[in-house]
Formats: sequence, structure tokens, C-alpha cells
Amino acid sequence: MIQGNGVKGLYEMGLKTLQKQFIQPLEEKMSLENNEVVSQESIPIIDMSNSNNNCEVEDAICDAAEKWGFFQVINHGVPIQVLESVKDATHRFFELPAEEKVKYTKENSPSKKVRYGSSFRPDAEKALEWKDYLSLFYVNEDEAQATWPYACRDEALEYMKKTEALAKRLLNALKKRLNVNEMDEATEALFMGSRRINLNYYPICPNPNLTVGVGSHSDVSTFTILLQDKTGGLYVRPEDRHGWIHVSPIHGALVINIGDALQIMSNGRYKSIEHQVTTNGSKNRISVPIFVNPRPSDVIGPLPQILASGEKPKYKNVLYSDYVKHFYWKPHDGKLTLQYAK
Ligand code: SIN
Ligand code: FE2
Repeated sequence: MIQGNGVKGLYEMGLKTLQKQFIQPLEEKMSLENNEVVSQESIPIIDMSNSNNNCEVEDAICDAAEKWGFFQVINHGVPIQVLESVKDATHRFFELPAEEKVKYTKENSPSKKVRYGSSFRPDAEKALEWKDYLSLFYVNEDEAQATWPYACRDEALEYMKKTEALAKRLLNALKKRLNVNEMDEATEALFMGSRRINLNYYPICPNPNLTVGVGSHSDVSTFTILLQDKTGGLYVRPEDRHGWIHVSPIHGALVINIGDALQIMSNGRYKSIEHQVTTNGSKNRISVPIFVNPRPSDVIGPLPQILASGEKPKYKNVLYSDYVKHFYWKPHDGKLTLQYAK
């Protein structure tokens, strides 16, 4: 059991070698020693400021979502101060004394939707992941004001609000290629009816090659908007390419990745890609993903607009909350969550 100061607390105790519980079985971790290929390729970088030619930007988004499932956007319209503030707020939250953070653990949190913890499924994993997080499920402004930790509340809310237009622009581009032409409220909610924001903290690790920050998985979102700092360590593995590709930090950029919900709804056209995070022996790392999701009560499946052309459904319909439960019920395991919709 990791105590209230999380993995960060272990590092601060001056741990010289990694505790056994964090040592990942060889097949679980990515490392050069493990003979895994690290590719020199990079994921697409899309400049969204090209407002004279929005079609070109939209095509680039859809192409990247089909071929890579992961891309970075620059000139995306989210002010740099908002990004800097949420990064500062992330540090501020994790710098809080243990007795403050412990108020938000599973046992103590005033809300089920606010959770501070370490690793992913500590009670079910073969080995723990070297990571602390604060996870905030957004319901409405009032509830967020009342339950999110003061140290990061305003900045996290502002980051969510200021990424809203970007999320809509991405969705607008992506849906056109799926023949979804009109966008009424119900259709929009199916793609982006709920949000979760995570503040992730990866402390310096005494033996970075023996463990992982986050094990390999794909996200269950429609898509994820991710802010990372300059440390690096996020790797992705598109299916048709050999090896892992590093997502190099670009100051001011946001990383976008397609999640399982959109892979299912697009009947496999858009790809939800496996990714993982390595640990670092000399620098800590933070990241702040916003998961743009269907509503928990939505049933998701291949869209009728796609099946109308006679295409066979590759996935069955599933209740989104069941799908998410299935993801959280087991340790990270690459893309296996998708089997639940087969
Ligand atoms: C995740 O995919 O769970 C975290 C991504 C990151 O920290 O970059
Ligand atoms: Fe992820």
C-alpha cells in the first residue's frame, strides 16, 4: 500500500533502488534492453491556424486519425497562459502535504468523481506503475467548485473550458468523414457528452529501466487532448508500424489521440492507439489529459451512417459505462479492452 504522499513520497524518502512491488515483468515494460525497436519516425504535427484553408486542416486531422490515431496540434487556439497555469496547478497539487492529498483518496474523497491515487489498479496489478494522479470527472461547474481541490480547481476548470472550442473543431472535422452531417445536441453528446481531466505526476525514478510510468493501453475516450511538459517519455505504437514512437514534447502544443469509443463508432476507420509512459532517472514529469467521452448512459456502436453503405459492423453495441468499467476492472493490457465490444 502506497501512503498518502504517493510514489512522490517514496522518491522523497531518498529511495536508492526501486522497491520490488514496482519491478515490472520483462514483457510488460518497454526498454531498449528489452530489444524493443524505438522508431525514429514522428507522429504528425498539424498547424490549426491555417484558417484560410480549413478543408486542408480538416483533411490533415482525419488522415492522422485514420493512419496514426495520434497527432500533435499547434496554433490550436488554447492560450499558452492557460496551459502554463494548469501545469503550475498540477505541481501545486502534488506539492501539498500528504495530509491534504489524502483527503482525496478512494477512502476519503468527498466525491466519487474526485480521486487521488497511485498506479492504475494497485490491487490487481502484477507490478505497480510509478505514477501519482488526481482524476476529476466533470459533471457541472457547481459540483466542480464544491468538490475539486482548491490547489488546482480554477486552473483545471479554465483549461477544460478553453479546450472546448478545439474539441468541437476536432469533432466537426472527424464526423464529416463518417458521413455524420448534421450535429444536433444528441449527436454531439454521443461523441462528447462527458469529460474527465487527470493531473498526472511521474516522480524521478531510481531505476527507470525496471518499471513504467503507465503500462501499455489505449484510451477509452472518443478522443483525448493531452498536455505534457518538456520531460518526454510518452511512446505510441501504431499497428502498421514497427516499434514505439516517442511523442516529442513541443512547447505550446497539445497531443490528440483517438480513443476506443471513436474506433468503435467509426467501425475501425479511426484508430485508438496503444501507448505507454516510461520513467525518468533525473527529472519528474507531469501531464494533463482531458478525456472527451460519450455520456456513461450512451450506447455506443458502429454509426448507422457508416453501416448505411452496407459495411459490416466490426463491433457490437455496448453501454459506455460498462465499457469504461471493463477498462478500470483490469490492469493495463494494451488494446485488449476493445475485445469487450467484439
Ligand atoms: C496516459 O496515457 O495514461 C498518460 C499519458 C501521459 O502521461 O503522457
Ligand atoms: Fe492513455
